[in-house]
Amino acid sequence: PGLTAINTLSPPPGTSKHAPHSIIIGVRKGGTRALLEMLDIHPEVAAAAIEVHFFDWDENYAKGFDWYRELMPYSYPHQITVEKTPGYFTSALAPERIRAMNSSIKLLLILRDPTERVISDYTQVYFNRLENHKPVQAIENLLVHSGALNTRYKAIQRSLYDVHMRNWLRYFPLEQIHIVDGDTLIRDPLPEVQKVERFLNLPPRIMSSNFYFNQTKGFYCIRSEGRERCLHESKGRPHPAVNDTVLQQLRSYLREHNRNFYRLVKRSFDWQ
Ligand code: A3P
Repeated sequence: PGLTAINTLSPPPGTSKHAPHSIIIGVRKGGTRALLEMLDIHPEVAAAAIEVHFFDWDENYAKGFDWYRELMPYSYPHQITVEKTPGYFTSALAPERIRAMNSSIKLLLILRDPTERVISDYTQVYFNRLENHKPVQAIENLLVHSGALNTRYKAIQRSLYDVHMRNWLRYFPLEQIHIVDGDTLIRDPLPEVQKVERFLNLPPRIMSSNFYFNQTKGFYCIRSEGRERCLHESKGRPHPAVNDTVLQQLRSYLREHNRNFYRLVKRSFDWQ
């Protein structure tokens, strides 16, 4: 047992830790875990194991870049390091701080239909609260206050992609931010992941045989190095049915923001 402990602690020969070459900046519930796990299939990718929250949490940022690098995985010289923290996208300070570290870093942003994202966000908080024995509310009570859409609800604010994107574009050119279509990644992951390979200048190594559809989970799972694995059960949970009037209120509020976003990124999505 002593030897095993030493082996797990000492790095593989020839490896070292590096600040990320690429960061998945969000969006929360966009499919960030799926994207990181799928990229990790690539032999030249070393993915960070945890969400670091370096650029969005002041108390972590204060610890400095060496602290940050220590949290990165050991990698070989031919590998690139990738980190994901979904909170970066909606953080006011993250873009400026990331640019201060590396102004030519490649950013990955995975987005899905913002209405769907609100419901997914609600669902995650709902289950977290249940686990922690805290009271929960119906989604309609959070979305609407006395008949009007509660635009201060955090889950809605995180879905204002144009607002957050405008802040990133103050610090990075659009070409440096590759947007992954999270809705497409769910239905047909390979082409989306291949676009990321190209964006990161990686040789094409991820193949259709790396994915298989798991009927029970209802999602694609990963086959790599002789192992098959699906994402954690908290990924891909059923969503609650939302009252139709409330849903329409939410959709119509987001519509203008979506249009602004399409203009900003010079690309459109088929969000409702
Ligand atoms: P839901 O659980 O609401 O369906 P994140 O990792 O950023 O929190 O995103 C979670 C979302 O990733 C899930 O939201 C799910 O829809 C999506 N996702 C995309 N591909 C997936 C996959 N292969 N397996 C499970 N979830 C996937």
